[in-house]
Amino acid sequence: MNQQHLELCSSAEWAETVSRFIIPWVLDDLELGDNVLEVGPGPGRTTEVLVAMVPRLTAVDLDEGLAASLAQRLAGPTFEAINADATALPQEDETFSAVLSFTMLHHLPTAEAQDAVFSEAARVLRRGGVFAGTDSLDRPEFRELHVDDICVPIDPSTLGDRLNRAGFEGVQVETNDFGLRFRAWRPKN
Ligand SMILES: C[S@@+](CC[C@H](N)C(=O)[O-])C[C@H]1O[C@@H](n2cnc3c(N)ncnc32)[C@H](O)[C@@H]1O
Repeated sequence: MNQQHLELCSSAEWAETVSRFIIPWVLDDLELGDNVLEVGPGPGRTTEVLVAMVPRLTAVDLDEGLAASLAQRLAGPTFEAINADATALPQEDETFSAVLSFTMLHHLPTAEAQDAVFSEAARVLRRGGVFAGTDSLDRPEFRELHVDDICVPIDPSTLGDRLNRAGFEGVQVETNDFGLRFRAWRPKN
């Protein structure tokens, strides 16, 4: 992330947006179960809310420094932060009851890398588990925030097919004025 983006994602304003609007919208009516993975926590404004909501939370970020500071800041018996790549997760198949992704998919450098995250989410989910998340929509101000940074926005009109191809079922994709949310389930059988 560039410095401006990092500062925004670390800010009190973003923390309030996340806790008041984004997390309630993404998690509305979802059963997360007992062992949840968050991919791309960044500075952790989402993570600090999630850790209080679920019995066990693992957060995986590609940025070594962000993962290390999150591990220190939220250290506790029900939380683990790992420096790893969500396109090639270190966890075993069928480990998690839910996988969550907040405003991170556009940071993957290609659509193929995003699809690899979807496949990995399906692999590490238990049967019947949910993959849910959100991302911003492609707008000029969103692009401006990513000067000299990776920015591959997700097209909501193709996301459903991409999640189906990754092995999910029951896929739902919705948009509001700010972004998209998705939820998709690993088949029970
Ligand atoms: C904009 S931040 C997301 C912040 C946070 N989820 C939130 O909503 O406040 C995107 C994060 O995704 C991480 N990221 C990018 N590619 C990744 C990958 N392949 N695996 C894991 N994390 C990745 C980046 O290091 C960055 O911390």
